[in-house]
Amino acid sequence: MKKQFIVAGLAGLLALSLAGCTSNGGTTTPSTSDTAATSATAAGGTVGVAMPNKTSSRWVADGNAVQSGLEALGYQVDLEYAGDDIPTQTQQIDQMITKGVKLLIIASIDGTALTSQLASAKAAGIPVIAYDRLINGSPDVDFYVSFDNYKVGVAQANSLLYGLGLTNKDGSKAANPPAGPLDIELFAGSPDDNNATFFWNGAMDTLKPYFDDGTLVVKSGQTDFAQCAITRWLLESAQTRMDNLLTSAYGGNGAGLKGVLSPYDGLSRGIINAMTNVGMGPDIAGGLPVVTGQDAEIESVALINQGVQFSTIFKDTRKLADQAVKTAQEILAGNTPTANNTTDYNNGVKIVPSYLLDVDTINKEDIQSKLIDSGYWTQSQVDNGQA
Ligand code: GAL
Repeated sequence: MKKQFIVAGLAGLLALSLAGCTSNGGTTTPSTSDTAATSATAAGGTVGVAMPNKTSSRWVADGNAVQSGLEALGYQVDLEYAGDDIPTQTQQIDQMITKGVKLLIIASIDGTALTSQLASAKAAGIPVIAYDRLINGSPDVDFYVSFDNYKVGVAQANSLLYGLGLTNKDGSKAANPPAGPLDIELFAGSPDDNNATFFWNGAMDTLKPYFDDGTLVVKSGQTDFAQCAITRWLLESAQTRMDNLLTSAYGGNGAGLKGVLSPYDGLSRGIINAMTNVGMGPDIAGGLPVVTGQDAEIESVALINQGVQFSTIFKDTRKLADQAVKTAQEILAGNTPTANNTTDYNNGVKIVPSYLLDVDTINKEDIQSKLIDSGYWTQSQVDNGQA
């Protein structure tokens, strides 16, 4: 059944030619790309990298960064994007296993849909690293590399509190906070993405005291994860939900709405579209409500720069890719990969050893120092809102 493309004896390494180190979400543009080129010259064999979609610029940045990191170590890379379609992703992983990849790095679409693929990988001796999103319900996930997802949620809620004037940027109480109650609305991520609950829990734990003492009120009454979740993290679905909230709870024009907790930039842009469609705007009386985000996607960084979106949480995909590559190298060398968390990520079958990275909150004044100076985005990308 299983064809192995074992490329033996190529000890000398290939040229590490990484064409055009353009700044596009902190990634390099690799000289060779995907499937077609995956068999012949690999000194270390092929690593399969499965990413969810190309519509979110972060996954393109992640994929490119993982690919160039692995290629620099002498591996070939089979990098695939699944258009957010679960059968496509399972098929891509099946094919990688059939081809005999040495290791799989997977950012899943639905964290519970890969059990049989992972069982086949295990049977074929192929280790699996879950990338950014944990894969649930399978004993065959060897490792998890991600950001500290609970802390992301805490950072989003803290940013909302800061934007509302209740706290200072360092988290301390504001000297002259606005008189409450302040009306806000809540959004959550895709229910099949394990991260979405971590973001939600981090945010809710942080906001709870403000709900308890009446400072914050969710006027729509929609405070359950299930009511706030946006399947597949779709911008359009967030826009539709925000439209409905504006109509049902804010008189159709957003009157009184002060802030929206959004866990991802794509949702934030949908939320902002809904607001601007009913005539709300940064330069219109009352301004736009505070809208948070995540991923420092270029379209949202531009909006932050223009004073439209309030904040995003920057997850440096270069660091995550680097960690995934290091972990892959450790596993392929037969070593135990370095973990910094062995307690929090239970996938329903086992606790998956994890390496979690820290994140930064970005407001307008941080774009230069955190995103441009570090080479993640260029000034002109920020000005144009395009990678
Ligand atoms: C999550 C990820 C976030 C964001 C979101 C939507 O799993 O951790 O950073 O990218 O998916 O793509």
